[in-house]
Amino acid sequence: MLAFRNAAGVARELWSERRFAEMARRGAGLLYATRVTIGLRRDLDAPSPAPAAKIPIEVRPLHDADLPHLFPEDRGGLNRKERLELGTRRFHLRSGIPTCWVALDRRTGIPCYMQWLMGASHNRLIQQTFPPRWFPELAPDEALLENAYTPAAYRGQGIMSCAMALIAERAAGIGARSVITFVENANVASLRGCAKAGFAPYLARVERRALLDTVRLRRFEPFEAARHAHA
Ligand SMILES: CC(C)(COP(=O)(O)OP(=O)(O)OC[C@H]1O[C@@H](n2cnc3c(N)ncnc32)[C@H](O)[C@@H]1OP(=O)(O)O)[C@@H](O)C(=O)NCCC(=O)NCCS
Repeated sequence: MLAFRNAAGVARELWSERRFAEMARRGAGLLYATRVTIGLRRDLDAPSPAPAAKIPIEVRPLHDADLPHLFPEDRGGLNRKERLELGTRRFHLRSGIPTCWVALDRRTGIPCYMQWLMGASHNRLIQQTFPPRWFPELAPDEALLENAYTPAAYRGQGIMSCAMALIAERAAGIGARSVITFVENANVASLRGCAKAGFAPYLARVERRALLDTVRLRRFEPFEAARHAHA
């Protein structure tokens, strides 16, 4: 039902924007689609200096006072995709899986980025919260960095690249020697940000969806094999 409502919402939006080719492509995708998400890893023992952002930033765990900046009350100006992105982060916040880190614009103290750094001690909660085989079970010395978000007004200033690198380094504090993250293969901005933050592809999550998303099969494949199979 939810899938049908979402599909109808997307169709209305594409129709009103006269994006008919995309509408047809998405319509076909409701019958059958393969979605590839890339798993990237950073080895914390290998030096990888954080690239500088265009504005001065610093990172720290989220405070309650940050929430109105990151989750604005008035969402009227946001498009459907942006509301969806924020909804995903709100869901993560409500799940209670720690820790949401933020980057602050040091000129104003306003948060301009958020991302969750999670450790193996939260494996059970992670697996219960997210769909089956969404994330692999973390090894004791592994951390998961997820749900990066830069509010639109701050994008394109190198904040993700810098903040992600800085937050990844904090994983050492929860006993990790490597950090992993997952990015959809079409999310060019995020993939570039990850690469600049010292992450390299190692895995692929391949999801096959059919019949209005009522059938979903997911599995992990080595990155190189998946790259050739799903090129
Ligand atoms: C992805 C996201 C976090 C990037 O944040 P950001 O702070 O703007 O990222 P950066 O400024 O560090 O840019 C990272 C790279 O992406 C590039 N980039 C930024 N926007 C881009 C776009 N729309 N298309 C292509 N590349 C883009 C930048 O040029 C930069 O690469 P470069 O340094 O080689 O030029 C932000 O766009 C966002 O919040 N998107 C919605 C949520 C999302 O997709 N999160 C990631 C989930 S895995």
